[in-house]
Amino acid sequence: MKSGNTILSSYGTTIFEVMSGLAREHGSINLGQGFPDGNGPEDVVAVAADYLKTGNNQYPPMMGTDELRQAVAAHNKRFFGIDCDWRREVMVTSGGTEALTGTLLGLIEPGDEAVLIEPLYDSYLPMLRRAGATPRLVRLEPPDWRLRREALAAAFTDRTKLILMNSPMNPCSKVFAREDLALIAEFCIRHDAICVCDEVYEHLVYDGAKHVPMMTMPGMRERAVRIESAGKIFSLTGWKVGFITACPELMTPIAKAHQFLTFTTPPNLQKAVAYGLGKDASYFSGLAAGLQGKRDRLGKGLAALGFDVLKCSGSYFITCDFRPLGFNGDDVEFCRHITTEAKVTAVPVSAFYEGNAPRYFARFAFCKDDSTLDEALARLGRHFGKSRSLP
Ligand SMILES: Cc1ncc(COP(=O)(O)O)c(C=O)c1O
Repeated sequence: MKSGNTILSSYGTTIFEVMSGLAREHGSINLGQGFPDGNGPEDVVAVAADYLKTGNNQYPPMMGTDELRQAVAAHNKRFFGIDCDWRREVMVTSGGTEALTGTLLGLIEPGDEAVLIEPLYDSYLPMLRRAGATPRLVRLEPPDWRLRREALAAAFTDRTKLILMNSPMNPCSKVFAREDLALIAEFCIRHDAICVCDEVYEHLVYDGAKHVPMMTMPGMRERAVRIESAGKIFSLTGWKVGFITACPELMTPIAKAHQFLTFTTPPNLQKAVAYGLGKDASYFSGLAAGLQGKRDRLGKGLAALGFDVLKCSGSYFITCDFRPLGFNGDDVEFCRHITTEAKVTAVPVSAFYEGNAPRYFARFAFCKDDSTLDEALARLGRHFGKSRSLP
């Protein structure tokens, strides 16, 4: 039998799948994978359910329904001041993941170089390599995850087709400040490169900060590809509805990839997301405020247990250094250990690196019910023999 594609075959099962499987097997509280407890906003789910029975369940248009594309354009304008032509500059995809893959397949020519920022989301490297690009990695160092000019200067060349960035960032929860974005923009403009921006956590930004899309930076409107996910905006990660905003020159080749990848996305979900994007401002601010409270609840609890908890400015995740607990092993061993022994699951942060990673950070998701977070802290407290002061 001839073998499958060597690039994809060289990667194992994603860490999220592995740790979630282990969590199920051991009856562990899964703070590894980033999916919220609960079933999303009732009104949004009701629109989807109703449309299944009363709406048209045949193929929607390849670019997405007019209604959802108009809603995405209105959302771009309402929250970020982005003006876009929904007919030519907005496309609906089956999740942020398909948006990312379609963008890479649509833009990359074999032999191109692409700059990536470590630690990075797990689909980036395999899909970028499969599209034919050579990755050039820029590393952010803990604890502040600062982006350094020298690192970008070393990574960008005249063969750089694009940089793929993620803000707010998974796993390290950094929200790129305007200075960071300006630095990346400077290199994109100098090297005539595209900036693909994974902005799936755009509404999950804390402490009064605001997400800034790269597209709004000077000189970047025509160079940036903005990727969003309704799964994160509506706490409905299983829906896999995403959107892309990009100028027509970039959108045209990306749409070609989407046309042959998934072609379209379930019509009832498009209907419901279009409705949801029009919800009051209080929905969006309430989402961030609720998650900020959970961040504080879990963060304070982990700190009380002795973890060194790193700053979290956005996303669903807290990164902690577990060395102060005295655990004798690396991050993979630590995450397996707490899953099987304490019955609480986290994911090892080294999985977000290509190699030579720091091996003493665990990532915990806090997008869970307060009672789930409290029980996870109680279990960890019992296991590590420490009493916990409730936040
Ligand atoms: C950084 C990042 N990008 C993309 C995605 C995928 O988004 P979706 O579930 O809409 O495919 C995730 C999901 O966890 C993510 O963390």
